[in-house]
Amino acid sequence: MARLFTALFLCLLGVASRGTASPPRKPVDVPFQKNYVPTWAGDHIKYFNGGNEVQLSLDKYTGTGFQSKGSYLFGHFSMQIKLVPEDSAGTVTAFYLSSQNSEHDEIDFEFLGNRTGQPYILQTNVFTGGKGDREQRIYLWFDPTKGYHYYSILWNSYQIAFLVDDVPIRVFKNSKDLGVRFPFNQPMKIYSSLWNADDWATRGGLEKTDWSKAPFVASYRGFHVDGCEASAAATFCATQGKRWWDQRDFQDLDGLQYRRLAWVRQKYTIYNYCTDRSRYPTMPPECQRDRDV
Ligand SMILES: *[C@@H]1O[C@H](CO)[C@@H](O)[C@H](O)[C@H]1NC(C)=O
Repeated sequence: MARLFTALFLCLLGVASRGTASPPRKPVDVPFQKNYVPTWAGDHIKYFNGGNEVQLSLDKYTGTGFQSKGSYLFGHFSMQIKLVPEDSAGTVTAFYLSSQNSEHDEIDFEFLGNRTGQPYILQTNVFTGGKGDREQRIYLWFDPTKGYHYYSILWNSYQIAFLVDDVPIRVFKNSKDLGVRFPFNQPMKIYSSLWNADDWATRGGLEKTDWSKAPFVASYRGFHVDGCEASAAATFCATQGKRWWDQRDFQDLDGLQYRRLAWVRQKYTIYNYCTDRSRYPTMPPECQRDRDV
């Protein structure tokens, strides 16, 4: 019943149709082999369907991961992911963008597993100039292990939007005017990985990985990249003029998207660093914009 209401509600919010700030063209997937390489433990990655679908597996010896060959400065990046089913407690599956230097920028989706039948947590974070500590945590409105769902990042010089199946779950606005660094000049690669984090992931580390259930398998497809490839020189992207993600429609969420975000805030948010006064007695400056929601 709850599921039915959720479906109806999303329908009313227009999830079936596209918001004005959806990418202007259908995602073009880049074949895995063309753009990605294993980051470590390549023998724990399996390829299906001509390499259009891959599975990462974690056992007690190792996790695994992959990364893009190219680096990007701004754009729209998405993947379809089906998370580790059944007992996934202690495991973390991640999809993120990161630059490769010490004062790095990073945009993170981290899926924290759970015991069978208990809900995953989706944790997001943004690092700028090596500083993170901007966690937000939500439950999802569907079971992420039952099928593929879209997880995407829209990154331009105005905002970073995190979307799940076209529903914005977080926006990190450029608050340079408030003295907050914003990722703007360090190209990032796309990463994904699956590893054991049972010292913190599930119920704060109380639930340990049950290795008798290994291997733990997460599946991926739809490796969509539409960004400015900046592998050679970041300055290249600065000379390309305005791309679609810089246009007006993508500089902010539209009304419909704000309503969806408010819905996620009200019904699914379990932690937001912006409202954690014991950790941040004064609200971090960028959170003033977060509060508009
Ligand atoms: C796991 O399930 C417990 C009990 O329902 C819940 O408190 C917790 O938030 C869930 N997720 C994680 C990752 O701990």
